[in-house]
Amino acid sequence: MNNPLLDKLPVGICLVNEAYEIVSLNAFFLDRMPVELRGDALGKPLADVFPEQIKFLKRRIKSVFILKHPSFSYWEQRPHIFPFKSSRPITGEETQMVQNMEIVPHKDAETGQQYACILIQDVTAQASYFKAQAQLAEALKTEHEAQRKLIRKLDRAQSQLIQAEKMASTGQLAAGIAHEINNPMGFVTANLNTLEQYAQNLLETCQATKKLVASHAPEHIEALEDLFDASHVELIEEDMGPLIKESKDGLKRVSEIVSTLRSFAEEPQHSWGYLNLQETANQLVQLISTQFKRPKYKVTCEPEQLKWYCESASLKQALTNLMMNAAQSINDTGLVMLDIRQTTSGIAIKIVDTGCGIKEGHLKRVFEPFFTTRPEGKGQGLGLSVAYSAIEKHKGKLVINSREGKGTVIEVRLPLLKEAKEEDKTASDPSTESL
Ligand SMILES: Nc1ncnc2c1ncn2[C@@H]1O[C@H](COP(=O)(O)OP(=O)(O)O)[C@@H](O)[C@H]1O
Ligand SMILES: [Mg+2]
Repeated sequence: MNNPLLDKLPVGICLVNEAYEIVSLNAFFLDRMPVELRGDALGKPLADVFPEQIKFLKRRIKSVFILKHPSFSYWEQRPHIFPFKSSRPITGEETQMVQNMEIVPHKDAETGQQYACILIQDVTAQASYFKAQAQLAEALKTEHEAQRKLIRKLDRAQSQLIQAEKMASTGQLAAGIAHEINNPMGFVTANLNTLEQYAQNLLETCQATKKLVASHAPEHIEALEDLFDASHVELIEEDMGPLIKESKDGLKRVSEIVSTLRSFAEEPQHSWGYLNLQETANQLVQLISTQFKRPKYKVTCEPEQLKWYCESASLKQALTNLMMNAAQSINDTGLVMLDIRQTTSGIAIKIVDTGCGIKEGHLKRVFEPFFTTRPEGKGQGLGLSVAYSAIEKHKGKLVINSREGKGTVIEVRLPLLKEAKEEDKTASDPSTESL
C-alpha cells in the first residue's frame, strides 16, 4: 500500500478487485498474516491466500460489489475470519485474534475500477473483557438465585419459629395453669375423702338410732350418747358445712380458670374484628397471675370497655408475651401494670414493670430472634420477635424503655386502621343494618 498513513493505522486493510484478487495490503494486515503467506500475497487471488475462509469472504464481497453498501461482521457471530494472531500488550502472549470485519465499496476515481476494501479491527481485548463480564453476570445470576432460595427457606423457617414460640408461650401458660388447677383439686379431693368418712359415720349412727328408738328403751339413752361420741357426731356437725363450702369454692375456681383459658385461647385464627380490650386485659392478668404470683397487677383502661378493631389472636399473643416478660422480670415483689388508652390517632397500650430491667448492652438485641437471658430451657428468645411481627401486622409501633434494676416500660401504639373506619360506617349505615 503506497500511502504511509494507512500503514500507521491500527486497522488491517486489504483491497480486493472484482476478480477477488488482492490488490493492496497495509502494514497492520501484512504483519498479522502467517509468515509463510506474507511474501507473495499481493496480486494473488484471495482464494489462494485464505482458502478456508474464501466461501464466506466471497459471499460478503459479492454483496458489497452488487449493493454498493458496506457489510459488517461482528466478532460475536464470527470471531476468527482471518487466521491472525494477536499479542497481549503487556505479557506479549499470542492468541488467536478476535476480529470485527467491515467491507466497504471503493471506486477508483481515475480508472472507474470497483474494489472491496476489507477492514479488520483487532477486538481480542474487548472480547475477552466481554466474555469475563458475561461469566461474571452468569455467576451473579446463579448466586442471586441461590440467595433467593435461601431467603425463601429463611422465610419458611421464620414462620415455623413464630408458630413454635406461640405454642411455647401458650404451652408455658397452660403448664402454669395446670399446676394451679392441681391446687384446688388437691383440697377438694381431700375434703371429699373426709366427707365420705363423715357420711359413713352418720349413716351408721342413724341406723343404730333407728333401732334404739324402735325398742323405746330409756335405759338405752346412755348407749345412744356413747354411739354419738364414737361417731364424732359433734365434730361432723361443725366440720361438714365448711368442708362442703370450701370444696364448692375450689370447684368454682377450677371452672373459672378453665373458662378464662378457653375464652382466651379459643379465638379463631386470623380473624379481624372488634375486641374488648379491657376484658382481654383482665382475662390476661387473671391467667398470668395464676402462674406468676410475686407481682401485684393493675389494669387500667380509658375509656372503659374500649373495643378495638384488630386480629384478636395475634394481638392477644403479643400482649401475652409482653406481660409474661414483665411478670418474669419481678424476682421478689413488684408491680406489673397494663394501661390502655385511646389517643387522637389510635390507642396506646403500656406495659410497665418495676422488675430487673434490661442491661443497656442488651436493649438493642432483645428483638433479635433467639436472644434470651433466661436459663437454658426457660426461654426461647422469640417472645419479643413474635410480639413485634404481630404489632407490625397492625401497622403499629413498639417502643421499649428500660433501666437496669429499675424496670421496663413497653409502649405499643396502634393506629386506627382504614378497615375499622369502614366497619364503623357499615355498622352505622341504617340501610345495611336493616338487612
Ligand atoms: N420486661 C422485661 N424486663 C426485663 N427484661 C426483659 C423484659 N422483656 C424482655 N426482656 C429481656 O429480653 C429477652 C428476650 O425476650 P423474649 O424475646 O420474650 O424471649 P424470652 O422471654 O424467651 O427470653 C429476655 O430474655 C429478657 O432478657
Ligand atoms: Mg419472653
